Amino acid sequence: MSARIIDGKRISEEIREEIKQEVERLLARDVRPGLAVVLVGEDAASQVYVRNKAKACDDLGFYSEVHRLPASTTQDELLALIDRLNGQASIHGILVQLPLPKHIQEKAVIDAIAVDKDVDGFHPVSVGNLMIGDDALLPCTPSGVIELLKRTGNDPAGKHAVVIGRSNIVGKPVSMLLLRENATVTMTHSRTPNLPEVARQADILVVAVGVAQLVKRDWVKPGAVVVDVGMNRLDNGKLCGDVDYDDVAPVAGWITPVPGGVGPMTITMLMQNTLKSAKRTHGIA
Ligand code: GUN
Repeated sequence: MSARIIDGKRISEEIREEIKQEVERLLARDVRPGLAVVLVGEDAASQVYVRNKAKACDDLGFYSEVHRLPASTTQDELLALIDRLNGQASIHGILVQLPLPKHIQEKAVIDAIAVDKDVDGFHPVSVGNLMIGDDALLPCTPSGVIELLKRTGNDPAGKHAVVIGRSNIVGKPVSMLLLRENATVTMTHSRTPNLPEVARQADILVVAVGVAQLVKRDWVKPGAVVVDVGMNRLDNGKLCGDVDYDDVAPVAGWITPVPGGVGPMTITMLMQNTLKSAKRTHGIA
């Protein structure tokens, strides 16, 4: 039997419909969620991401501002812009597209974003709130993974989740979220001995390492839920994940495709965070 597909595109559209209805409700009270996206420099991939974020805002009826700054922008100039956006009432979320040019310290920039507008969930206070289980704006890709699981009936509670990869933007936060959802979580990485054997213990296997097609059929317990956060380009130009999809799909119970799995969820969760921030600011339940 072949795995059921976790259709991130469809689930993402479903959530966007819910967001649209919420926006209607807010507009009736004269509140429009607003997102500021800041892009420094000319990175080609970043330009595409920023365009997609602005388009998502348009589609959902959000207010948006895109600040495109030259690569020569100084750190102080960028910090001054963030300071201004922190105080701007029409803006409920601030996203500074990463990576930044080398002469700008990423940490200084992330630290400067007001915690209640930190829709990326990258600020140390947001990370701390996630860790202690306080209400926080959650990082988008990890919360997208949790939504995919829940909306396909794969509640993590009581399951053994194995996470491969320990990055600050995916591996660590998704592990904390799975723990919060009452999974038993094993965090693994490049120095974990017998990685395939550990992965094979998983009821839910989340892979975020950035190595094309690393995970093979013998890493997966029959019937397991496999969530592939990877996005790699093969020499032939084809996109693929960190999971060897064709090899794994026949044994998994559920699997996310790449593209069309986790990818579409990231921007949707960014919109959801911006909506949440707007509601909080205006005391709307
Ligand atoms: N660059 C690639 N992914 C992301 C992301 O999720 N947030 C930000 N700010 N920059 C990114």
